[in-house]
Amino acid sequence: ANSDDEKMIEAHELLKKFYHHLLVNTKEGQEALDYLTGRGFDKETIDQFEIGYSLDSWDFAAKFLTKRGYSPEMMERAGLLVKKNNSDSYLDRFRNRVMFPILDHTGRTIAFSGRVLGKEQPKFLNSPETPIFNKSKVLYNFHQARVHIRKNQQAVLFEGFADVISAVRSNVPNAIATMGTSLTDAQAKIIKRNAGDVIICYDSDSAGLEATLRASRTLAAAGCKMRVAALPHGTDPDDYIRTHGAEKFRQDVIGASITLMAFKMQMFRKGKNLHDEGQRLQYIEDIVRELSLLDNPVEIELYLKQLSEEFSLSMDVLKSRVLDQKGSRQ
Ligand code: GTP
Ligand code: MN
Ligand code: MN
Ligand code: MN
Ligand code: MN
Repeated sequence: ANSDDEKMIEAHELLKKFYHHLLVNTKEGQEALDYLTGRGFDKETIDQFEIGYSLDSWDFAAKFLTKRGYSPEMMERAGLLVKKNNSDSYLDRFRNRVMFPILDHTGRTIAFSGRVLGKEQPKFLNSPETPIFNKSKVLYNFHQARVHIRKNQQAVLFEGFADVISAVRSNVPNAIATMGTSLTDAQAKIIKRNAGDVIICYDSDSAGLEATLRASRTLAAAGCKMRVAALPHGTDPDDYIRTHGAEKFRQDVIGASITLMAFKMQMFRKGKNLHDEGQRLQYIEDIVRELSLLDNPVEIELYLKQLSEEFSLSMDVLKSRVLDQKGSRQ
C-alpha cells in the first residue's frame, strides 16, 4: 500500500478512537449514549464494535485532523471531510451521528457509517468510495467473524449494523452484513472462500424479501449453498432479539432456517388463495418452474412429493412437467 493510503487509515484510526471517547466519556456524547442504551446496546457492545459519536459541529474533525498534520485535501479524498462550495474551506462529513467504524478484513479502519439519533434523513450516511474503501468488497464485521465463519463453515448474512451487533451479542459470532446495498459478486466470492454455506437473515419486509432472492442468486453464482432464516413479518433480526431474546433467536430463527426452495415456495404462496383453482395451478406452475432449475434429482423429488401429497397429484404428471420445462430451456 502506498503512503497516502497509510495516512488515510491512520486518520480513520485516530478519529475512531476520539469518536468513541466522545460517546462514552463526554457530556456532548450523552444524548447519543442514551440513544444507544435505550436501544439495548450495553457498554461491552459499544466497546467491542468501537461505536462512537461525531459532534454536532461543522469543523470538529477538520480541526482535529489538521492539528495532527493531515492535509484537508487528503482527508477530503479519504471521505472524512467535504469541500465547501466555491471556497477553500473543508467541513466535516459526519456530524451529530452515532458512528460505526467499518474495518477491512485485517481490522484496519477504512470507513464509517453514521446513523442519525432521530428520524432525520438519510438515516445512515456512509463514507464514499475512496482509495481505501471499496464498498463492493467490504462486509461489515468480517474481520471479527472470519475465524468463526471458517470454523463453522457457515456465515450468517444480515442487512444492517444493528442486526450484526445483536447477533454477535446473542452468540452468533459468524455474523456479517452488506451495508445498505445488494450483495455484490465480490462479496459473495469472499464468503465462498471462507465457507460453503450461508444463512441469509434479512429483514422481513418486502424490500428484505426481494433482497433475499437477489442475494441468493449472487451467492449461488459464487458456488455457495444457502438457507434462509425467516422472521415474523415486519421485523428485523435486531427487533426480534430485543423482543424475544438471544436463545429464541438462535433456536427459532437461525436454528429453524429453511432451504431456499422452501423459502421460494412460501413466497409463491403469499397472497394466493389456494382454494381457487386458477391460483392453485399458478402456484404449482411457479414451483415446477423453480424445480426445473435445480440439478439435484433427490431435491426435485423431495419437493414434488410434497406437492403431490398436498394437492393429490400423481408424481408422474408432476415429474413430466418438470422435465418439459427443463427441456424447453435447452
Ligand atoms: P435501525 O433503524 O438503526 O435499526 O437500522 P437498520 O439496520 O434496521 O436499517 P434498515 O433495515 O433500514 O437498513 C438496513 C441497512 O441498510 C442499514 O444497516 C444500512 O447499512 C443501510 N441503510 C439504511 N438506510 C440507509 C440510508 O439512508 N443510507 C445508506 N447509505 N444506507 C442505509
Ligand atoms: Mn472503550
Ligand atoms: Mn431493512
Ligand atoms: Mn432493519
Ligand atoms: Mn433495525
